[in-house]
Order: sequence, then C-alpha cells, then structure tokens
Amino acid sequence: NGTYTVTLIEGDGIGPEIADAVKDIYAAAEVPIEWEPVDVTPLLIDGKTTLPQPAVDSVNRNKVALKGPLATPVGKGHTSMNLTLRRTFNLFANVRPCKSIVGYETPYENVDTVLIRENTEGEYSGIEHTIVPGVVQSIKLITKPASEKVIRYAFEYAKSVGKPHVLVVHKASIMKLSDGLFVNTAKEVAKEYPDVSLDFELLDNTSLKLTADPNQYKNIVMVMPNLYGDIMSDLSSGLIGGLGLTPSGNMGNVVSIFEAVHGSAPDIAGKGLANPTALLLSSCMMLRHMSLNNYADKIEGAVLKTIASGPENRTGDLKGTASTKHFASQVIANL
Ligand code: IPM
Ligand code: MN
Repeated sequence: NGTYTVTLIEGDGIGPEIADAVKDIYAAAEVPIEWEPVDVTPLLIDGKTTLPQPAVDSVNRNKVALKGPLATPVGKGHTSMNLTLRRTFNLFANVRPCKSIVGYETPYENVDTVLIRENTEGEYSGIEHTIVPGVVQSIKLITKPASEKVIRYAFEYAKSVGKPHVLVVHKASIMKLSDGLFVNTAKEVAKEYPDVSLDFELLDNTSLKLTADPNQYKNIVMVMPNLYGDIMSDLSSGLIGGLGLTPSGNMGNVVSIFEAVHGSAPDIAGKGLANPTALLLSSCMMLRHMSLNNYADKIEGAVLKTIASGPENRTGDLKGTASTKHFASQVIANL
C-alpha cells in the first residue's frame, strides 16, 4: 500500500522528546512511514549485555531504523548498546556529514565536510585487561577486511556525491602496524577507482587544518579508523554550532541505522528543551537512503528555515529560547 515500516528506537534521556518531534513532523508532512517502536533495554544473559530479540527481529525485518541516543552504562559487563547495535548488524561505515546552517552564525562559514568512520573495531573492539595491578592493556584491533569495507564504502560514496577525493586520516607515523594496515589497504582499494584521487593526512594535522579553515575539506570525503572518527565528528560539529545539528548514518550491507551524533543529555532530559534537529536531519539521510528524496528535501528545508528564522524559534543550544515543541510546530508551519 506504499507505506514503509521503520524501526524506531526512541532512546534514553532526551530521546523520547526528540523522537516525538520527528513523529509529529512526519505526520504533518504525510511521510508514508509507519514507525515500529522497539525496546532495546539490555538484557543480562550469562553476564553479557544482550539486545532483546524483538528489537533485533524488527531491525532485520525492516532493514532501516531511526535511533535516539542510548546512555552508556558504567561498570564492568555493561557494554554500550550503541556499540552493540553497530556490531550486531555489522554497520561497518558511519557516515557523518557536517554542513553550516545558513542564518545561524558561527566563526566558520560554508562548512561542508563529510567523514566516514570505521564503525566496528579499533579502540572500540572492547578488548581490555589488567596485566598486573597498575598495568592495563586496551587493544586497538584493526583488520584488513573491516578496513577494506569502510574504505571501499568511502570511494563509492565519493563517486556518488561528486566529491571525487578520498582523504585517509590516520596516525601511521606512530601506530605503524594498525594504521599502517589501514593506509596500505586504502592504497590497494584505490586501484579500483581511477577516477577518485587518494590522499593521506595525519590526524593531528587534519584537526589543525579543519579548525583553521574547514573550507579546505569541501570536496573531500574523509575516511578514518573508529576512534579518530568519533573525535573528528565532534570537532566538525563544533564548527557549525554543536552536536544538536549533526546527523549520521550507520551503514551495513543489509541494515542501516540512522542516529544523531549526540548523547542522551541527561542534564536537560524531560524539560522540553532539547534540539531535535540532529535526529531530524538523520531521518532525512534515512529518507534519501529509502529513495524518498522529496520528503527529505521538504523536511530538511523546513528545519533549516526554522533555525534561520531567529532565536525565538531556536532551542537553547543555539542561543535561542524555543522549547522542543515550539521548534517542532514551527518546522510544521514551514513545511
Ligand atoms: C557517537 C557517540 C558514541 C561513540 C557513544 C555514545 C558510545 O559518541 O556516536 O559518536 O563513542 O561512538
Ligand atoms: Mn562521539
């Protein structure tokens, strides 16, 4: 009947409030999507945190999910469900675009960057142990298959968005074996893409250059190991006004999960103050992935117009005075 079912993980903290904004705006825009909300509260099975099976089944069935932030539990035996989701569905590439919003001023203009983060291993492999008290080891795991997958994804992405330059961001000068493998894999994959250029840059240098002049990265697709991508995506967000604005897509071969880059913000949770923009823009990435580009353009346009329309229509993170609900109603009015 022309409607799509999408798994919805509302998330913790501000998650339900920003998910409500998305649902209201989607209903007003008459997007042909039916939400299937699932509970991902971790189950402790044999001392291991596990995703509830109905949630796994829903994502596998629908192939597409929109996800709010999940709090990371502290303590032993509690793995982050954010990471569990990425690993369970082998979402090997995390696409994180970052674009200035016209009408919202920051020290930087016309920022238009995109980074692709390896999403399954590196320092996030979760392999840590105490050797003797006072001496611990955290393993950074880099494999050729995972490197190859994310790098190939970056080349394909570069071709598809018309930014035919891939930049590998790394620290192989020090991490000779692990980042060295990532760099060498990129050189191999590049042979399959004669129309896309390949460059390399050290992570510290990229940080310096991005903050000095992000416009140097306009026509480039950056690709990097997991932790570097985590850090560089927050850095990029900072250039355009913060984490309230930046979307992401966790991409796999079969399943994709779209989520904001930010966390659950417990300090403002339940107060109606959260900015739903990052989740809304993530949902627009999702709509384009589903070939519902018209709806993506319509919603993105209304969101950007609302932010540009002045502080009375912006949330507090953007130096505005609007509540989440007021913001959402303005987006609806601007559809
Ligand atoms: C992100 C987040 C997560 C990460 C946290 C919440 C586990 O910071 O998506 O960037 O570190 O990957
Ligand atoms: Mn992060």
